[in-house]
Amino acid sequence: MVTTIRDNKGALPIAKQAGATRPLIVRITHWVNAFAMTCMILSGWRIYNASPLFPFTFPPWATLGGWLAGALAWHFAAMWLLVANGLLYLAYGLFSGYLRRTLLPLTRDQLWQDFRAALTLRLKHRVGVYNTVQRLLYIVVLLLGPTAVLSGLAIWKPVQFSPLTTLLGGYDTARLVHFVAMAGITGFIVIHLTLVILVPRTLLSMITGGSRQNHATEARI
Ligand code: HEM
Repeated sequence: MVTTIRDNKGALPIAKQAGATRPLIVRITHWVNAFAMTCMILSGWRIYNASPLFPFTFPPWATLGGWLAGALAWHFAAMWLLVANGLLYLAYGLFSGYLRRTLLPLTRDQLWQDFRAALTLRLKHRVGVYNTVQRLLYIVVLLLGPTAVLSGLAIWKPVQFSPLTTLLGGYDTARLVHFVAMAGITGFIVIHLTLVILVPRTLLSMITGGSRQNHATEARI
């Protein structure tokens, strides 16, 4: 049976199909992305430590790869996984209408209202429907991901991708863009995991797909 329940902000639930709040492909690509992104960030920190851009380095225990060559091997291996998986998610999300259905509309008034509710820990969180604060965070991270990949290509192969490197303002600026994108994604992950801890039943629905029963449940954060 197909249901088309809208929430009070006009958004359709994550999946219209009764019995599941998230399509299997979204769940698989989400977890592959979480793995690949973790490898990219931790190995990236090790690469950064070899030639720091700022007057600090990352603690070696928080890095991946053991040494520079090992970290580079992890970084490039995970990059292929991240890119292939990301393209699959984006292709599905854009062509099936999933991203439009789940992340839009995003109005300033509603965002302000939800943001104030979040600050006072009164933001409603329905499993299966993203509030506007979540929608904004997801849209930002979906833009930061490609930014990190493109700036990474620009500093990996500045000769082969010279138009891209030039577009990003040259090698040094592209490196800074790459760092800022990483910092933004890391910040997102911290907030994202905090929200998951505050509303743990969303974790189950991201693993099993959820159920119509779960779909109706809501929590406040
Ligand atoms: C182990 C780490 C992670 C956990 C436990 C986790 C958990 C979750 C959960 C439970 C949801 C559903 C939220 C809800 O229903 O309200 C979700 C959605 C999402 N997460 Fe994560 N996540 C992790 C890592 C990441 C990373 C690294 C990224 C990207 C950098 C990411 C991006 C997203 C996005 C974009 C969504 C929305 C997915 C969609 O519906 O298309 N997550 N995550």
